[in-house]
Amino acid sequence: MLLTAMMAADARSPSHFFPHGNEKPLVIAHRGASGYLPEHTLAAYAVAILQGADYIEPDLVMTRDGHLIARHDNRLDLTTDVARRPEFADRRVTKVVDGATVTGWFSEDFTLAEIKRLRAVERIPEVRPANTRFDGQFQVPTLQEIVDLVRACERALGRPIGLCPETKHPTHFRQSGLAMEEPLVEILHRNGYEAALDRVFIQSFEVGNLKRLDRMTRIALVQLLGREGKPYDVAAEGGTLTYEQMATPRGLADIAAYAEGVGPEKQRFILVPDAEGWLDPANASPFVKNAHAAGLKVYPYTFRAENRFLPASLRSSEDPNALGDGEGEIRAFLATGIDGVFTDQADVGVRARDAFVAATR
Ligand code: G3P
Ligand code: CA
Repeated sequence: MLLTAMMAADARSPSHFFPHGNEKPLVIAHRGASGYLPEHTLAAYAVAILQGADYIEPDLVMTRDGHLIARHDNRLDLTTDVARRPEFADRRVTKVVDGATVTGWFSEDFTLAEIKRLRAVERIPEVRPANTRFDGQFQVPTLQEIVDLVRACERALGRPIGLCPETKHPTHFRQSGLAMEEPLVEILHRNGYEAALDRVFIQSFEVGNLKRLDRMTRIALVQLLGREGKPYDVAAEGGTLTYEQMATPRGLADIAAYAEGVGPEKQRFILVPDAEGWLDPANASPFVKNAHAAGLKVYPYTFRAENRFLPASLRSSEDPNALGDGEGEIRAFLATGIDGVFTDQADVGVRARDAFVAATR
């Protein structure tokens, strides 16, 4: 009955809806269990799933031969051992990516077979030194390998596990002859992520590729909102639309024409600690209310439980890398009405979410 009603609603609207309806707020494992293992590895996704994450989040970039792989950046030297591989020394180049001149090793200059010879390393060893014990152990996974992991874990654990890939540098890849939307939709559809009811959504900081995806698939879409500036595709076309404008009621209504949710930077758009470092949900901006009024789900990013990332009132000690009260931060944001969180520590997110739900029943 509910399913029939939802399908009828979907048929009336070019927009889709999320499959999770009025369930508990989602715990989305940001790049895997990034607080515990090198990000964007199958091991990191598996640990996050075992910690109870509802969704896992792979950021995606393209290889030279058209494969989608999980990396936050097309610069491979940030999270792999490529710089220490003599056979790839001549691949180091300087190029312009999203308007910035950068030097390094880039995914679009490597075949998948070459990338499979690399091994992942911790992105921020100065913050998470314990994670470096895994450096050199794990490959860079493809999107298909991540889907296979999700399906295997669903069978093993007997529960659904969501997937929310993010397209990284979509304009750059399209201009490089490696458009990512077509292979992304093809892989998701081929794996049964086709209907609006499936546990999947696609995210992007850009606008144009989400509008393109909206014409290609019924999979739900989430517009990410950066802390400042404009979406890169808007800037590249000389447009004036800023993230700040997109976060207004008018901007949110425009987003609702092609997306089902928004992923705002949490502090910039929702809740800022007060002068003493306390987080009071009563001080939240009207963003969540406005987004809901536009029919959009709200999934802010990124919740990290180390002291250095927390407001002063939630820190456990002077050690910036020790874990503080990440649960307290997430509970405060949940009280603003958000629909889920992107977090590096899914275990912390699950405890906070479950405590919040229990307290508000
Ligand atoms: O997709 C939500 C969040 O992951 C966006 O930030 O830079 O970590 O991909 P980033
Ligand atoms: Ca992301």
